[in-house]
Amino acid sequence: MPAQELDQVVNLCKRRGFVFPSAEIYGGFRSSYDYGPLGSLMLRNVKDAWVRTMVQLRDDVVLVDAAILGPPQIFEASGHLANFSDPLVDCTVCKRRFREDHLDERDCPQSKKGCAFTESRGFNLMFKTVAGPVEGSGAEVYLRPETAQGMFVNFGNVLQTSRKRPPFGIAQVGKSFRNEITPGNFIFRTREFEQMEMEFFVPPADSAQWYSYWCTERLEWYVNLGIPREMLRLRPHAADELSHYSAGTSDVEFLFPWGWGELEGIAQRTDYDLTQHSTHSGSKLDFFDQATNERYVPYVIEPAAGANRTMAAFMLAAYDEDIINDEPRTVLRLHPRLAPYKVAVLPLSKKETLTPLAKDIYASLSSRYMVDYDETQAIGRRYRRQDEIGTPLCVTVDFESLEDDAVTIRERDTTQQVRVSIAGLLDELGKRLGF
Ligand code: GAP
Repeated sequence: MPAQELDQVVNLCKRRGFVFPSAEIYGGFRSSYDYGPLGSLMLRNVKDAWVRTMVQLRDDVVLVDAAILGPPQIFEASGHLANFSDPLVDCTVCKRRFREDHLDERDCPQSKKGCAFTESRGFNLMFKTVAGPVEGSGAEVYLRPETAQGMFVNFGNVLQTSRKRPPFGIAQVGKSFRNEITPGNFIFRTREFEQMEMEFFVPPADSAQWYSYWCTERLEWYVNLGIPREMLRLRPHAADELSHYSAGTSDVEFLFPWGWGELEGIAQRTDYDLTQHSTHSGSKLDFFDQATNERYVPYVIEPAAGANRTMAAFMLAAYDEDIINDEPRTVLRLHPRLAPYKVAVLPLSKKETLTPLAKDIYASLSSRYMVDYDETQAIGRRYRRQDEIGTPLCVTVDFESLEDDAVTIRERDTTQQVRVSIAGLLDELGKRLGF
């Protein structure tokens, strides 16, 4: 993928309202982003597509939504207070800080003239803050650096209330925070981001089998949502890359314009987390299997994905430029589930005779889909605008529609047009969108 494609996608994101630099009117807030009208819809679609696959279409996974703020005890037990750090080096020449393992990505101009680095030291990535108007150590709290701990500390609650038994999973989608030393590459690495994680609890003897099952399932998820297989790979971690809790991890990687980058890690967390929380809290976090009369601490397989960088990958993979009727166009060939709008209703003219019918159609389609309505400028321009934001289908309402009770559906990818009756429109759109 050419590097310039990143600039084009970043530019499109800003121009069309997908992603804005945060706090822009104050000069920007480095490496933070706000999701605009289209980006917030698409980010939500990415998360919904994940919940659909991981929770809705399965009977063995349930969803939780745990607190973002947590007491130090959670992160003491999880090992994050002691181990969740990156190696930080200072450059005595350009006075900037780098992650020792990311030195190849440094971007400060002086570094090319020759940096002189200090010894590396561990820099804990957790954001710490103070809860309530209490001074002193008792009120110290942390913003979660992963959603995972919310699932582990609720293992007992979920077991009791959901009547699930291993193998089963607890899933969660939500914000996590890491004080990254070198955020960058647009929304790829930021200090505030969203994760889509699932802890799958299994009998220890079955853990290897479930690990390979989830590696395959998770890679397929990206393919099914439109990323070409050749832009994805599964990369097992070397022993020295493994997180403190992992007995084996594979990353799903995407071929970004700057090279292969991680979208998701699938980790074998063994019984590390449940055992740690059990020991530190004094609560039993295990499972009694009545069939075998055995009590055991389940092993965990964890597919952990990032929603923001996944959204970037979907956009980069979908970005295309082609020529239609001798005119260049930009088109986002997004999967219909991910596209911000599924349909755009476009009355051919702004004339009052057409507006009521067009608005009626808009209202009836909106009850099922996220729909855009656009009546400004020439119809060709409007098609291009919808192509550029990935809208799979346009519905054109013209003066004939008042006579024949029919409208034209126009497809984004082929630009083909077909006339359909208004009475059968919802069914026809459903067939074409696939839902
Ligand atoms: N619970 C395991 C865990 O958090 P991770 O590999 O550190 O594992 C999972 O994070 C995913 O979260 C990553 O694959 C990535 O997609 C996303 N992620 C992690 N740090 C991120 C950051 N600073 N900015 C954006 N996404 C991030």
